[in-house]
Amino acid sequence: MTFNSLKSVKSKIFITYGVLLIITVLFSNAVFYYFAKEYIYKNTVNALKSISRDVIWDDIKGKNLKDNFSFSIHKYEFSIRNVFIQAQYNGKIVLKSKNLIGLELPIQKLSKKNSISHLKIHKISKYNIIMYSTKIPWDENYTVQIATTTKTENYHLGKIINMFLFGDPIFILFVLLIIYKMLQDVLRPMNIMVKTAKEITITDLNKRIPYYDNGDEFAELAKTLNNMFSKLQSSYKQIKQFSQDASHQLKTPLTSIRLQAGVTLKKDRDINEYKNVLKSIKNEITYLQNMINDLFLLAQMDNDTIKDNFENIRLDIVLMNVIGEFIVIANKKGVTLDIKDIDNTVILGDSTQISVLCSNLIDNAIKYTEKGKRVSIELKNYMMTIEDEGVGIEEKNINAVFDRFFRADSNDSKIVKGYGLGLSMVKIIANIHKADINIQSEIKVGTKITVKFPKPI
Ligand SMILES: Nc1ncnc2c1ncn2[C@@H]1O[C@H](COP(=O)(O)OP(=O)(O)OP(=O)(O)O)[C@@H](O)[C@H]1O
Ligand SMILES: [Mg+2]
Repeated sequence: MTFNSLKSVKSKIFITYGVLLIITVLFSNAVFYYFAKEYIYKNTVNALKSISRDVIWDDIKGKNLKDNFSFSIHKYEFSIRNVFIQAQYNGKIVLKSKNLIGLELPIQKLSKKNSISHLKIHKISKYNIIMYSTKIPWDENYTVQIATTTKTENYHLGKIINMFLFGDPIFILFVLLIIYKMLQDVLRPMNIMVKTAKEITITDLNKRIPYYDNGDEFAELAKTLNNMFSKLQSSYKQIKQFSQDASHQLKTPLTSIRLQAGVTLKKDRDINEYKNVLKSIKNEITYLQNMINDLFLLAQMDNDTIKDNFENIRLDIVLMNVIGEFIVIANKKGVTLDIKDIDNTVILGDSTQISVLCSNLIDNAIKYTEKGKRVSIELKNYMMTIEDEGVGIEEKNINAVFDRFFRADSNDSKIVKGYGLGLSMVKIIANIHKADINIQSEIKVGTKITVKFPKPI
């Protein structure tokens, strides 16, 4: 099993930390051991130095070592144990302490100028020794060597190694345990995210990832994912709504087209009959096409994407452009368009959507107003007013007119063509722009619709 094949991030981080920890501990052990050894050996060498200067030199001063002078080591109380003393005269051993019987210290060649050498570890017989050699200042033919076994040093260094052997595993285990606990705490939000994300399906997008908003990466990730789920949910709702609406609304005209074609094809007919049927089918198809376009427009009205295109727009210019498109239609129908005050008005919004809003309101006003009557349009104080002298809306239907596919059947509006989608688009666009819509209407008197836009800050 390789490191990359590990399935859990926790294991990967844990193993990485574990390996780093062990390397750090071993390295610091090695550094500590090196300096401890240096320190211990240096102390021993210093002790040997002071023995040579303060004791041995004083003792042999004035004595002729060549006369086989010997002295018992035991008369000295040294600060360290197992001290071996040896002196040479021009490379020939002339003095040995009694504890060196049968053994001799390795002879060292010392240069004349630099007459000391130390911290050399030699092996004599089965002992490791530390030895300090020095020339006697008053007679450079003599070299005095003081040595001691490394028993005490080894004892201390052994203690340090024991401390490592017992202390390291406990320390490493303890730190690993803390790292494991910390990883568990740190990665808990991720586990919750995975669990929640697994529970979310396209048909059940209601769930959201719970998170504690402390501003860390996990909180950001949870927020981003929740945002994405909300968008998915609203897109899914739109698609569902669209397919429901489309399948419901397309059924009737499609059946009508099929039936017309079927009946016509039953027997041979004259050319005019065919022409009439084709004309009727063409009208149905145009009707279907327009409805599908409107349904698409409705489905695409996603708050967030529209808001991304928000900018300061001249509402009066958008409105005048829309009015321009309706002048011919109104004239043809014999409805007078009365353009009242149109103030220069800047609002924050999407001009395409606003023009859809204006054209649907003006279209309705002209559509549901009889010949010879008037439609007046005004824009004042961020309030757009479209007033007609048309058929009016029954009070019980005032709120329903904003529902999809709602068309009042009690008034003359049924003879006017429409899909019942215009005002639902108007409502959505007004909501996105935070505008308030108000309808006042009286049957056979007329309808007044106002849209109050917020002032841009
Ligand atoms: N100015 C108005 N005067 C009288 N009735 C109206 C007016 N505006 C809307 N209505 C009523 O509200 C209903 C819904 O209007 P809406 O604009 O949503 O659909 P539509 O005009 O029938 O079709 P379309 O989708 O082509 O706009 C209309 O069918 C009509 O009965
Ligand atoms: Mg309409």
